[in-house]
Amino acid sequence: MLNRFTTDYLETLAQADFAPRAAVAGRLASYDGLLMEAVGLSLPVGTVCAIGDKGSHCVEAEVIGFRNGRTLMMNLGGPAPLLPRAPVRPLGPPGEAEVGAAMLGRVVDGSGKPIDGLGPIRGADHWPLAGKMQSPLDRGRVLEPLDVGVRAINGLLTIGQGQRVGIMAGSGVGKSVLLGMMVRAAKADVIVIGLIGERSREVADFLETKVAGEARARSVVVAVPANHSPVLRIRGALRATAIAEAFRAEGKKVLLIMDSLTRVAHAGREIGLALGEPASARGYPPSAIAMLPNLIERAGADAHGPGSITAIYTVLADGDDGNDPVVDSARSILDGHIVLNRHLAERGVYPAIDIGPSVSRVMTDIVGRPHAQAARTLRRHLATYEENRDLVLMGAYRAGADPAIDAAIACHPAVMEYIRQDADEVVPLDHAVEELVGIFGQPLG
Ligand SMILES: Nc1ncnc2c1ncn2[C@@H]1O[C@H](COP(=O)(O)OP(=O)(O)O)[C@@H](O)[C@H]1O
Ligand SMILES: [Mg+2]
Repeated sequence: MLNRFTTDYLETLAQADFAPRAAVAGRLASYDGLLMEAVGLSLPVGTVCAIGDKGSHCVEAEVIGFRNGRTLMMNLGGPAPLLPRAPVRPLGPPGEAEVGAAMLGRVVDGSGKPIDGLGPIRGADHWPLAGKMQSPLDRGRVLEPLDVGVRAINGLLTIGQGQRVGIMAGSGVGKSVLLGMMVRAAKADVIVIGLIGERSREVADFLETKVAGEARARSVVVAVPANHSPVLRIRGALRATAIAEAFRAEGKKVLLIMDSLTRVAHAGREIGLALGEPASARGYPPSAIAMLPNLIERAGADAHGPGSITAIYTVLADGDDGNDPVVDSARSILDGHIVLNRHLAERGVYPAIDIGPSVSRVMTDIVGRPHAQAARTLRRHLATYEENRDLVLMGAYRAGADPAIDAAIACHPAVMEYIRQDADEVVPLDHAVEELVGIFGQPLG
């Protein structure tokens, strides 16, 4: 019917007493708390539906696939006393996130509802949750450093505007405190914080202690704690990224903080397994890991304007587990990683940044020669000290036997002093560089 857009046809259609019905209702066929199956629906993946009778016993669910004539949906709300054959009504695509200046200072949940008690958000713009399709050539290069106010990072692992960095650490090693230091001190126009899959108590604590005062006014927080549906947790990550993208399009220098990327992958794992995807690496179905590059690639600098998204993702790396698929995949997609070490934390070295295995892949492009040189010297001293640490501590090393070891021992206190920083102290980039070059600027003798 190629002629169906002609005026004739449209007029006939208008006169025919026919109104397309919005209420394509299906019926609930199975429900296990998380996954639902419905019959009688014909809806694309991503549509949100309301299930149950209007009013009290109604939950929302998102279509995640279909199989054998049944639509598979995932519960977005809490547990609900649903009955077999409960009605299912489509509400529409989840499609867009509220973005823009109206979001500043606000805290929203995975579905975009404000949870800070400050009333509805008015005047927000809209941006597709999944981002706008971009070509690799829309991504600018990383050329300028971003001052994050943390000495060891500014000096030894300099982060560039538009860089994507992972913070790899076990639990309780100081990730949140370090992120809080950056939220407070980073020289960014806007800070977008995605708190995904953490405990609710930690979310409240982070908001009260780390995103307080002046930092609040230039921040947007998307908080989806662990007890929310996996679909909402993934949506929260997409939403935070979409909010950052919209600010970047306005030409803003954005810092996007996602705590944690691992929990986003966990949410992907729950959905993949519920859909019957086979688990491959460590119980992760392939789709859960494949989702991460899509998310991370959305951050970066804008080639056509001054805007950039510098992104920091925390990655849980418990124990010395080098085979965790999320750690592996994050390491390969990100442009750098900062490793926090439990042994340092136990010795009271905070932030517990383990300089040896940490790298910033763009650092040499964005810092001056004396700075790079001094950072290399510090790293070499530290590596020499670590290699010989046991000998030295046991007293088996005799001073004077090796000048490199002597130098490493002599400057070890200065190295540790350089890394150490109080949580409420701010060390701007130029101070960090000045201090580094002042102490370690001389080439190794
Ligand atoms: N810079 C710091 N100075 C002093 N103590 C710190 C610092 N960073 C972390 N800590 C200690 O470590 C604990 C855990 O830190 P936190 O950031 O909550 O860990 P994570 O987010 O990695 O689970 C804090 O409660 C605090 O006692
Ligand atoms: Mg934490």
